Amino acid sequence: MKNVIFIAPPAAGKGTISEYLVNKYNYKYISTGDILRNIVKENSKLGTEVKRRMEEGELIGDDIILPLFKEELLKIKEEPFILDGMPRNLEQGKYLDDLFNELNVNNYRVINIVIESDLLEKRVTGRRICSSCKKTYNIFFDEFKPLTENICNHCGSPLISRGDDNLETFKTRIEKYKLETEPLIKYYKEKNKLTNVEATKPQTEIIRDVEKIIEDNQ
Ligand code: AP5
Repeated sequence: MKNVIFIAPPAAGKGTISEYLVNKYNYKYISTGDILRNIVKENSKLGTEVKRRMEEGELIGDDIILPLFKEELLKIKEEPFILDGMPRNLEQGKYLDDLFNELNVNNYRVINIVIESDLLEKRVTGRRICSSCKKTYNIFFDEFKPLTENICNHCGSPLISRGDDNLETFKTRIEKYKLETEPLIKYYKEKNKLTNVEATKPQTEIIRDVEKIIEDNQ
């Protein structure tokens, strides 16, 4: 099974696909967004600064995120793994190359999630997250609606919205994505590591396409 790096605009569905892969294939999973949200909970000076930047839709500085990410990657003792949110700019891409060289990681594929931007707005504003187990829902799509309004199907806790899931912040997140993250598409294409997955279609088809990529021996 291949290691996976997701490149995707905000709320394109990489966390949802990752959850499926973790359950089915036992993937190890690193989400830089989750790492940062845990820092925010600490209520430290750093947490306050990270919270502010996330709620503005800005990226967090490489000096903060890269050591935190490395610490998490080094905890992973066996492949395959999924990287959700790393890299997010060319500097982070080069940093990851060096880290992979050091750790002898070669078997990976970069999955670029391609999706229409109109759909992204619904995915952002409709997203709800369980306040306890973190399971993700969406109030606008039947497949992802909770069975009981605002209650988690799994643990019964209330659902909440993320501080950066509003249209104003979303505009900045998309701008940052285009400016900082999109150049990675060319970067990985030139390395012959990139495959596109069209995500404007039913989830079962998206999953089928991703499974083809990770199971491919090439
Ligand atoms: P992060 O948490 O990574 O946010 P993101 O990239 O914007 O991605 P999301 O978590 O919003 O979305 P997702 O693609 O996982 O979608 P999901 O599966 O939930 O980062 C947050 C912030 O942290 C950044 O803005 C930045 O500030 C900072 N940060 C993180 N990494 C960084 C880094 N490396 N460097 C610097 N800063 C960094 O799905 C979205 C919704 O759609 C859900 O409601 C879901 O139920 C629904 N959905 C999913 N699939 C479908 C489908 N097929 N049909 C209908 N609905 C669907």
